[in-house]
Amino acid sequence: MKKTILTGLRPTGNLHLGHYFGACQNYLKMQNDYDFYLEIADVQALTDNFNNPEKVRKNVTEITIDLLSTGLDPNKVNFFIQSKIPEIAELTVFYSNLVTVARLQRNPTVKTEIAQKKELFGNDGESITYGFLGYPVSQAADITAFQGELVPVGEDQLPLIEQCREIVRKFNSIYGETLKEPSAILSETKRVKGLDGNDKMGKSLGNAIFLNDSEEVIKKKIMGAITDPKKIKKDDPANPDICMVYYYHNLVNNKENIEKVCSECKKGSRGCVQCKKELIEAMNNFLAPIKEKRAYYEAHPEEVKEILENGTKKAKQKAEEQMKKIKKAMKIDYE
Ligand code: TRP
Ligand code: SF4
Repeated sequence: MKKTILTGLRPTGNLHLGHYFGACQNYLKMQNDYDFYLEIADVQALTDNFNNPEKVRKNVTEITIDLLSTGLDPNKVNFFIQSKIPEIAELTVFYSNLVTVARLQRNPTVKTEIAQKKELFGNDGESITYGFLGYPVSQAADITAFQGELVPVGEDQLPLIEQCREIVRKFNSIYGETLKEPSAILSETKRVKGLDGNDKMGKSLGNAIFLNDSEEVIKKKIMGAITDPKKIKKDDPANPDICMVYYYHNLVNNKENIEKVCSECKKGSRGCVQCKKELIEAMNNFLAPIKEKRAYYEAHPEEVKEILENGTKKAKQKAEEQMKKIKKAMKIDYE
């Protein structure tokens, strides 16, 4: 029996290199060997976009196409839409008894996000909604509705997986051994830095390269990337380790070229403009097959729709079975 993988993404924007190296690469590796459920988490996206439903709606298709364009195989991965699985909402209500408000307020991921969303939740989070504070409970429902055993996520999500494990233990201790405790799986590249040198690439940080950026946009972004500030002249020796151009060469170029960039930069036999031009080319080559698949799916919207329908059907079946077990354990399995 294959182990079950469950992971999710909020449909709030297009995927960038941070998603690709931090998450998608891992999905690609895992898709062959597991029973894989990939949730387009529209309900979770609404917890901080409740006032912007069009954005979430539009991005359900966008993110599905992005994911397919990275090479995920819809015959191996069940893509599904969270809101089409009402069992998840039901489970969220059940689990909400098993977690304290104080524990949710202490969740580091939730805390960070509240601090970032002052416009929505106030300066000190005084206008935090019940729904946003509780989204870790809903995420525990996402995972356990499918008996998810492995959860490939980015580093920032670890506190949410820990919270899920606590809910599972609490559930099992009260209602009997029913749920599996999931484990997080981190990518080799845990985090991708931004064009500005920021530790994290993020859409809202304005420092991201998106998988669907045009060649024109990529050129502009890379030409503006942060390099070693001490390098003024073309033949000044510099330190590639503090240069974002070198950092991205490492992600998308081949070993030989990476070594060349490094040694020439240190020697002062390489100018930054040339170095950036080479990176632009390497980046375009890296993104070319992804864009090619994107173009295919954009031209075949009915296929994307069908992929979501089929995946959602499978997910629904699995969640229904799991729900029966859970209701039985909780003694709410009325006939
Ligand atoms: N919270 C995740 C994120 O923001 C998305 C997500 C929703 C998720 N449901 C999940 C991740 C279940 C793992 C498992 O990226
Ligand atoms: Fe960065 Fe390349 Fe310039 Fe060195 S030569 S500082 S690696 S852009």
